[in-house]
Amino acid sequence: MSQGLFVTGTDTGVGKTLVACALLHAFAARGHSVIGMKPVAAGREYGRYADVDALIAASNVHAQMKLVNPYAFEPPIAPHIAADQLGVTMCLDVMHDAYRALSRQADVVIVEGAGGFMIPLNASETSADLACMLGLPVVLVVGMRLGCINHAMLTRRAIEDQGLACAGWVANTLDGNMLNLKENMIFLSECLEAPLIATIPRLEAPNSFECASYLSLDAMKGASGE
Ligand SMILES: Nc1ncnc2c1ncn2[C@@H]1O[C@H](COP(=O)(O)OP(=O)(O)O)[C@@H](O)[C@H]1O
Ligand SMILES: [Mg+2]
Repeated sequence: MSQGLFVTGTDTGVGKTLVACALLHAFAARGHSVIGMKPVAAGREYGRYADVDALIAASNVHAQMKLVNPYAFEPPIAPHIAADQLGVTMCLDVMHDAYRALSRQADVVIVEGAGGFMIPLNASETSADLACMLGLPVVLVVGMRLGCINHAMLTRRAIEDQGLACAGWVANTLDGNMLNLKENMIFLSECLEAPLIATIPRLEAPNSFECASYLSLDAMKGASGE
């Protein structure tokens, strides 16, 4: 049976794509067929959506673009605003149907949320509602920098409010000079009530294949891939 994970983060730009791709590599290394999904992308550069390209490159099953990325918006802005400007209403059922189709094509589907967990997708629903509709365990990427404790705890609470499991969290060192990084991590490890599945240092040239080596799928709650 196919399994999935929903990758969220404490903010945009905190390493969700990097971790989602690393998860794809890690599951693939265990012999699984894997597909990355980006239900909503915003910000086209040179005619491409970088997150979608990265997820496709880390997948080992080719799937239709309309399933991998049902909604894409050119401006790098909040996607519901981009959708409004085009007169488009994003529909969670469309994303859910795409996820279901992908889950029939691979053992593991890794879904990367847009922005932070509570980002709106339409007038009444958020990315949290999407995670809930998909019913997936959530991996929380914490971008380790000053301010991350508040963001991490708010996100953790929002995950719980949706009744979703937090399969694990990732400490992604965005600020290599962060003061008391270790103390922050100890605090978060105690408060997040989820296993720490990776500690990723600040990398000179980040690449998801290398990041897969920092991941412990076995540490993850209920999603080891075995
Ligand atoms: N541990 C790290 N060390 C160095 N750069 C990182 C690290 N994690 C992420 N980055 C860089 O930060 C940027 C944002 O990461 P990304 O995975 O795209 O975040 P998100 O998907 O949350 O927006 C990218 O350029 C990425 O290469
Ligand atoms: Mg991303």
